[in-house]
Order: sequence, then structure tokens, then C-alpha cells
Amino acid sequence: MKVHNIVLIGFMGCGKSTIGREIKRTLGYQLIDTDAEIEARAGCKISAIFSAEGEHGFRERESSLFEELREKDLKRTVVSTGGGAILRAKNCEILREIGYVVWLCANADTIYHRTKKNRNRPILQAADPRQVIDELLAQRTPLYRDCAHLAIDVGGLNRAEIVAGIVESARYYYAQL
Ligand code: S3P
Repeated sequence: MKVHNIVLIGFMGCGKSTIGREIKRTLGYQLIDTDAEIEARAGCKISAIFSAEGEHGFRERESSLFEELREKDLKRTVVSTGGGAILRAKNCEILREIGYVVWLCANADTIYHRTKKNRNRPILQAADPRQVIDELLAQRTPLYRDCAHLAIDVGGLNRAEIVAGIVESARYYYAQL
């Protein structure tokens, strides 16, 4: 049977890091938060990487980390990714190889309210972040959908309900393999 790993994808502010920590706590899985790992390796915040290397530099770091994780033969691991992880088709292929891919989604209003105070998301440091959210959501939604094995709308669900849904669905998925 394939190894049990869970990969969280979704737009900024949909709770990937929080739910990743909760899955770690519930299942005793190892957690790899790719944004946190990229920051730790670079020795600076994502906003500083964007300033120094542009978005392209960040995407290169992100893709090479995914390649590296694929080679690691991970087991009992939850990987929480950055919101743009699905922008490269190759990344999506790798994420689906790593594990059961869960898309955490929410509507633009929820995302706006959850992200408006955070200054470490360079993509949303725009004159009109709400418009950026609308545009990027429209562009990225089909990519999340294609990459995911499961979609969960997090609006109206508490953490425990989201985690229970993910854990049960992942069990079911792995039992079928
Ligand atoms: C990004 C999302 C961020 C981070 C970077 C780019 C994006 O992660 O990877 O700022 O393009 O959506 P979160 O989704 O964890 O905020």
C-alpha cells in the first residue's frame, strides 16, 4: 500500500499551516511547512526573498524543495504548501506523488478578512488587495481543482471538523490503493 502522506494546498489565508499543525497533533505525523522551510533555509522572511530575488527566485526555491521532498520517501507526513505551489504543472505532479492532496478553499471575502493584517505576503501588498484576490482566485481555482484529490470549503467549519474530514477521506483513499 502507498505511504500515508497528506499535502495541503489552497489560497493564502485558507488555513493550510494551522490545519497542518492540527493534523500533526491529531495523527502524530511529521509536519513540513514549505514556506517556513524556505524561510529557514534562506535565513529571512518570504517578503525579503521576493524583494531580493523577485517572485521567480521564490518559485525556484519552492520547486526545488518539492523535488527534494519527492526524493525523500516521506512517511506519515503532512506537507503544507504556499498558495502559489500549483502555478507550475510540475509541482502539481510532484505533490500528487508525495501524498493525498487536499485543497482548502474559501471565498474571496473570507480570504480578504483573514489576510488583510499580514505583511509577509508580498503578493497581497498591493493598492487594492481585494482585487488581487479576485483575480488570482479566478486564475488559480482550476489549478487547485486539478491538483487536488479532495476539496474542503473551510467556511463555516471549525478546525476539528476540517481535520476530521481530511483524516477520514485520506484513510478511505489509502484503503482503496
Ligand atoms: C504565495 C503564498 C504564500 C507564500 C508566498 C506566495 C502565493 O503562502 O508562499 O507569499 O503566491 O499565493 P501562504 O499561502 O501560506 O500565505
